[in-house]
This record gives sequence, C-alpha cells and structure tokens, in this order.
Amino acid sequence: MSTAISPTAYNYKVVRQFAVMTVIWGVIGMGLGVFIASQLVWPELNFGLEWTTFGRLRPLHTNAVIFAFGGCALMATSLYVVQRTSQVRLISDSLASFVFWGWQAVIVAAVITLPLGFTSSKEYAELEWPIDILLGIVWVAYAVLFFGTIVKRKPKHIYVGNWFYGAFILVTAMLHIVNSAEMPVSMFKSYSMYSGATDAMIQWWYGHNAVGFFLTTGFLGMMYYFVPKQAERPIYSYRLSIVHFWALITLYIWAGPHHLHYTALPDWAQSLGMAMSVILLAPSWGGMINGMMSLSGAWHKLRTDPILRFLVVSLAFYGMSTFEGPMMAIKTVNALSHYTDWTIGHVHAGALGWVAMISIGSLYHLIPKVFGREQMHSVGLINAHFWLATIGTVLYIASMWVNGITQGLMWRAVNEDGTLTYSFVEALQASHPGYVVRAIGGGFFVLGMLLMAYNTYRTVRAAKPSEYDAAAMIPAGVAH
Ligand code: HEM
Ligand code: HEM
Repeated sequence: MSTAISPTAYNYKVVRQFAVMTVIWGVIGMGLGVFIASQLVWPELNFGLEWTTFGRLRPLHTNAVIFAFGGCALMATSLYVVQRTSQVRLISDSLASFVFWGWQAVIVAAVITLPLGFTSSKEYAELEWPIDILLGIVWVAYAVLFFGTIVKRKPKHIYVGNWFYGAFILVTAMLHIVNSAEMPVSMFKSYSMYSGATDAMIQWWYGHNAVGFFLTTGFLGMMYYFVPKQAERPIYSYRLSIVHFWALITLYIWAGPHHLHYTALPDWAQSLGMAMSVILLAPSWGGMINGMMSLSGAWHKLRTDPILRFLVVSLAFYGMSTFEGPMMAIKTVNALSHYTDWTIGHVHAGALGWVAMISIGSLYHLIPKVFGREQMHSVGLINAHFWLATIGTVLYIASMWVNGITQGLMWRAVNEDGTLTYSFVEALQASHPGYVVRAIGGGFFVLGMLLMAYNTYRTVRAAKPSEYDAAAMIPAGVAH
C-alpha cells in the first residue's frame, strides 16, 4: 500500500484488520453460545468428551464474545475514532501491527488452552499465567498507541468519546494486573496470590469492572462518536457527557460486592455495593438519554436507516439492562435472582442488546469508510440483520426472565413442615421450554451475524486498494 506510511494519511490498515476480525470472532463466539445453549437442551451434544463439555466450552464462549468479538470491536473503533478526532495518524505503524497480531495471539491461545482444561478458574480471567503476561504486554502497547496519538492531536480539546475509550483502556490494565497476580506452579497452572474472602472480593471488583469498563465505558466511547455521526446531528449535550463520564467512572468501581451478596464478605461491604449500584442508575440513564436525544430532529431517519436503528435500539437495551442491574443489586431481589437464569438474561440484555448491537451498528458505519466505499454492499441485508438481532435478543431475555423467576420461586418454596416443595430436578424440568426458546433466539442472532459476514465479504471484495488509500487521506483543516 503506497500511502500506508504517509504522515498525511490515517492508519486504516489496523482498523480494517480489527473490523474484519470482529465479524469473524462474532460468528465464532456467538456460534459457540448457540452450541452451549443447545447442550442445555440436548445434553448428548457434550459428546462424552472432556474437551467438548459445557464446563470447558462456556468459558471459551465468554472469552470469545467479550475479548475476541468485543475487544476487536473496541480496538477497531477506538483506533479509528482517536485518529479522526485528533486529525493525526497513529504514532507508530509497527506498534499498531504488534497490537493487532498480539491480540489475535492471546485469543488463539485461549481457544487452545480453555478446551484443554487449563484455567485459573476465575470468571472472565480464566487464562493461565503465560497468556496473562502476553495480554498485559499487548494491552500496554495498545495504551501507548492510543494515548500517544492523543498527545500528538491537532485540535486543542480531547473529544468526549476518547475520554471514555481512555478510561476503558486504563482501568482494564489496572484490573487485569491486580486480579491476575498469581503464583505459577508449572507452565500451565498457577494459584491466586489472594485467599478466602479477599480473593473473592478482588475477583468481583475485577469482574464487575470488566462489565463496567470493558463492556460499558468502552462501548459508550463508541456511542459518543457513531450515534452523532450516523444521525448527522451533534451530541445532545456536551455538558451532560462530561457529568456522565465522571459520575459513571466514580461510581462503577464500588459496585462489585453486589456479586457477593449473602456470602462471607463483610455485611457493610455488601450494603455499600448495593447502594453504589442503585445510584449507578442515574449516570447510566444520563448517558442513554444523551445518546437518544442526539437524534432530535433526525428521528425520521429511523424509517430508512437500519444502521441508526441498530444504534438506537442498542441504547434502549442499555437503558433496560442498567435499570434491571440496580434492581438485582438490592439484596432482597438478589435473594431471588442470584444463581438463576435471570442473571443470564440480564447479562445478555447487556451483551446482545447493548454491546453487540452498538458494535454492529458502528461497524456498518465504519467498514465502508475504511475500505473506501460509499456504503455496505446491501442495505437490505443490514435491515434483515437488524430484525434477526432484535427478535433474537427478545427471545433470549424473555425466556430467561421466565426461567429465572420460576427457578427462584421453586427453590425457595417450602411446605408447612419446613421441607422443600420441589426438588432441583423439578425446577430443571420446568426450565426446559425456556432453554429451547433461548437456543432459537440465539440461532436468530447468529443468522444475522452470518448475513453481516456475507455483506462485509462483498463490500471488502468490491473495494480496491487505491480507493481505500484515498479514503485514508487526512483532510486539511476539517474536524473529524
Ligand atoms: C447468539 C448469541 C449468544 C448465545 C446463544 C449465548 C448463550 C450463552 C449461554 C448458553 C451461556 C451459559 C449460561 C449458563 O451458564 O446457564 C452464556 C453465558 C454468557 N454469555 Fe452468552 N450467548 C450469546 C452471545 C453473547 C455475547 C454477544 C456476549 C457478550 C458480549 C455474551 C456474554 C456471556 C457472558 C458474560 C456469559 C456468562 C454469564 C454469567 O456467568 O452470568 N454472550 N451465553
Ligand atoms: C447500572 C448498571 C448495572 C448494574 C447495577 C448491574 C448489576 C448486576 C447485578 C446485581 C448482577 C447479579 C449479580 C449476581 O447475583 O451474581 C449482575 C450480573 C451481571 N451483569 Fe450487570 N448490572 C449493570 C449493567 C450491566 C451491563 C450494561 C452489562 C453488560 C454489558 C452487565 C453484565 C453483567 C454480567 C456479565 C453479569 C454476570 C456476572 C457473573 O455472575 O458472571 N451488567 N449485574
């Protein structure tokens, strides 16, 4: 590529690489989700092999969707947004390349080691110590690339989307380094440096902030750039976005104990986590409202623009899951919801409705831009994808609400003599129809992802290197 080293052009190569891999990992990670959902309907699908059991494939699913799909989406968009809003090229092409290949290496290592059963057993931090070290190095390189580019920026102010991306990058580094402190005993086995309730608290400080900073703050960075861009309207309130930012990052970090209600964790810590989680509703909705209101005067575009529909519906699901979360954090509600499928429904309202939908919408905006095309190969296919994703998400979360509340009520029902009314197996039988509906909903969602893969393939195939080199030129004096 002739202009790939030109200082007058953006580095779109790394954005293209991450964007394409987002789609590929999305199909794989969500395909695995459908597979494990089907195992809960037809246990024969465990195939009687240790490598293909639910217990081994579940962490593979979570790692593939969060770190491979979500991570690539965040890296593609953050590296695109930081260049365009700073009006400069990334500080180093070789560092960008290292971040891309290093991140793929982490994912491939996860794909190999998790089915083999190598795990630290900490949720969302299952990878063993050598991979943890690689992940740490790649993440620091990513931080240098992102913040180095911000330092070199032409406009004086730092666009609000970059504040969110920046917080996501810094806090993820902090969480990973603290929670992964471990003592290796062999090449693929280590033990946590912490023990007992301290270990649990640190793990859920990590776990909750992985949700708060990886699955929320980073995607809010995406929201603050792609929603106004696609709607062709400015952000509703810049002031609200700043209040949103500081309130969100100040509160999120305290909410982790809501994962440890009624455990050995000191009671005051549980109550503090509950209070902080309830207050968190306010900044979350502030952000949602700021995104939604940016459509003022552009609502009519929803009739014809399926990309905008993806973005708006993702905000609606964000609002819904950040209402549900604070409610589930109240101890008496959690006494019913914890351990049940209600949690799984909440997770996927956030994961499918918010994280996946905002990523999909942003990518449909970004892919043609970085490949020098006017638009995606087919707008009709984007529309079909939108409906498959929305219906799929609704089927998933509605079935898990029904299952979750059924399970919670059946488990706690007691007879007059104090014995349990239902056995565990009876609650499991009652959950079976919900599992079938969830697997169908997941199937819808993956079908949509396959349409996206085909649409992306056709768009990329039609693009010529000369076209995307031209698209990467930095326009003189024009703000993003
Ligand atoms: C086609 C779409 C998907 C399907 C069918 C699916 C299915 C599943 C299933 C069956 C489980 C295990 C539930 C259990 O243990 O009872 C699970 C867990 C999980 N999935 Fe998905 N998933 C999908 C997409 C996603 C996406 C896109 C994300 C994230 C961006 C995600 C994040 C998670 C997380 C975090 C968990 C663990 C939840 C917990 O431990 O509470 N999933 N998924
Ligand atoms: C104000 C915002 C939110 C609050 C207060 C909140 C609160 C909660 C609560 C109370 C639980 C159940 C804990 C348990 O019983 O074990 C939970 C689980 C979870 N939430 Fe949220 N939530 C919020 C937003 C979100 C969003 C937007 C997402 C996804 C993108 C998300 C992803 C998850 C995940 C993955 C879990 C399961 C963790 C696990 O047990 O493995 N949450 N959340």
